[in-house]
Amino acid sequence: MSVLTTPTAVRTATAWWRHAAIYQIYVRSFADGNGDGMGDLAGVRGRLPYLRDLGVDALWFNPWYLSPMADGGYDVADYRDIDPMFGTLAEAEQLIGEAHAEGLRVIVDLVPNHCSDQHRWFQQALAAGPGSAERERFWFTAGRGEDGELPPNDWQSYFGGPAWTRLTEADGTPGPWYLHMFAPEQPDLNWEHPEVRAEFEDILHFWLKRGVDGFRIDVAHGLAKKPGLPDVGPDPDPQDLPYQDCDDVHDIYRSWRRISDGYNGERAFVGEVWLPTPEQFARYLRPDELHSAFNFDFLCCPWDADALRRVIDTTLAAHRPVAAPPTWVLSNHDTIRHVTRYGRRDTSFDMGDKRLGDPSDLVLGRRRGRAAALLTLALPGGVYIYQGDELGLAEVQDLPDHLIQDPTFVRSQGSDRGRDGCRVPLPWSGGSPSLGFSPDRAAAAPWLPQPAGWEHLSVEAQEADPDSTLALYRAGLALRRERLTGLPETLEWTTTGDGVVSFAREGGFHCLVNLSPAPVALPSGGVVLLSSGPLASGPAGSELVPVDTCVWFSGGVPDSAG
Ligand code: NOJ
Repeated sequence: MSVLTTPTAVRTATAWWRHAAIYQIYVRSFADGNGDGMGDLAGVRGRLPYLRDLGVDALWFNPWYLSPMADGGYDVADYRDIDPMFGTLAEAEQLIGEAHAEGLRVIVDLVPNHCSDQHRWFQQALAAGPGSAERERFWFTAGRGEDGELPPNDWQSYFGGPAWTRLTEADGTPGPWYLHMFAPEQPDLNWEHPEVRAEFEDILHFWLKRGVDGFRIDVAHGLAKKPGLPDVGPDPDPQDLPYQDCDDVHDIYRSWRRISDGYNGERAFVGEVWLPTPEQFARYLRPDELHSAFNFDFLCCPWDADALRRVIDTTLAAHRPVAAPPTWVLSNHDTIRHVTRYGRRDTSFDMGDKRLGDPSDLVLGRRRGRAAALLTLALPGGVYIYQGDELGLAEVQDLPDHLIQDPTFVRSQGSDRGRDGCRVPLPWSGGSPSLGFSPDRAAAAPWLPQPAGWEHLSVEAQEADPDSTLALYRAGLALRRERLTGLPETLEWTTTGDGVVSFAREGGFHCLVNLSPAPVALPSGGVVLLSSGPLASGPAGSELVPVDTCVWFSGGVPDSAG
């Protein structure tokens, strides 16, 4: 393998968040340090060398705060403390320092749309009674109907069922309703209230002072609500829903940006922004708002060359006017793992996907998953890797009902199997009952059972195999850092035939993915840097890129698509 160097003239020093490879840690399922069957901060601290050697730049931690865990920690009871399941605040501080010492930045998850019903503010609101100032921090509203027995409006929770729950007051009388766009244990905060704004600004300072490099903002499009909380109605315009993307939300991010800019070291925000149009999405990325946001259009895109080219183009076009870096995401803790999606007949995904259990050819899914990994690593901007992506893990589709903890399962009466199938504890080694997730002789089994066969996908097994998915990720991340960091955030499409996604980056770097039904020729003169699977020999010493394979190469001159 020969690696040609990129001319330094085309590289510029860019802020880390413009090009970082960020590894997502779902703490409960990453590594268990104390043997109780739940992942924890001790487990992460023990695996920092693994993350350093993987070659990522930053770690994003799903919520680690004090929480009753009604929604995997997205129901926060105290934003300034760590849940005892995970460890202590002192340990989190140590972890941040140790990650930095390994050259890894740290992003924490901020959950500002709602808190837990066990948060002191909600408990105070319950205790203070009707009409109290304490209730104004939330959305308490009288019901409709003669006796207020109907919800105040027709909004539906993202988890299914009405977005309102009626209170029973301390004296037993039926009270007002409160809004929760997710589970009833997650009351929405009222962002029109100055104390809510002040509280979250203080929380930002709290973590910034502890050295975090950034925040992932949960439901970033949802904080502001349309005044008067009007009905959605029978035929809503998806671009104009009263509970998302309301104009006031941008003002919140402008104030947060002023705060993060006041700290040294390029602290950054990444927004979880699910919106129907790229134009709406891009407004969150204006220069005085969020630094970046997850690109879910790419995640949802089917495994199809035209569709992928289109979504890449739309992404680049949407980010260009606001000068924000695009991001590329294949999977996360809310979605069906891409190995499973790509092995299905229909490879697309949408958030309401209830197709868990649909047949999937995992050999095919894994081959495509490897190709997709190299594609995302080659694109300009930032890239997110969800824990287990680097092992080629598939969704666990047959978890027994009684072990499922995701509230979407219960709220949908089981019609939605929920998201636990992508949250199964990682396999680190063969041999032990927990596949190395917990220490030997742990007191409890992993909180979700690992499927048969995962010992072959463990870190230990893959470290011993130069052709493993783990080896591919390590090589891809290393080469990406060496070849692509600091390049202009552009690409040039090159044509090599139907069903092929191929482009060049500055400095003679090429990426080609073959999604057509037949092998395609590697452009002549191309020097292979890395490929997601073995190439085949063609006529007269040429090389062929097999179906569902991605190759990175230098030189070679595919026809420019202009
Ligand atoms: C998005 C998070 O990623 C998801 O896990 C959570 O359930 C909802 N927001 C509510 O906080």
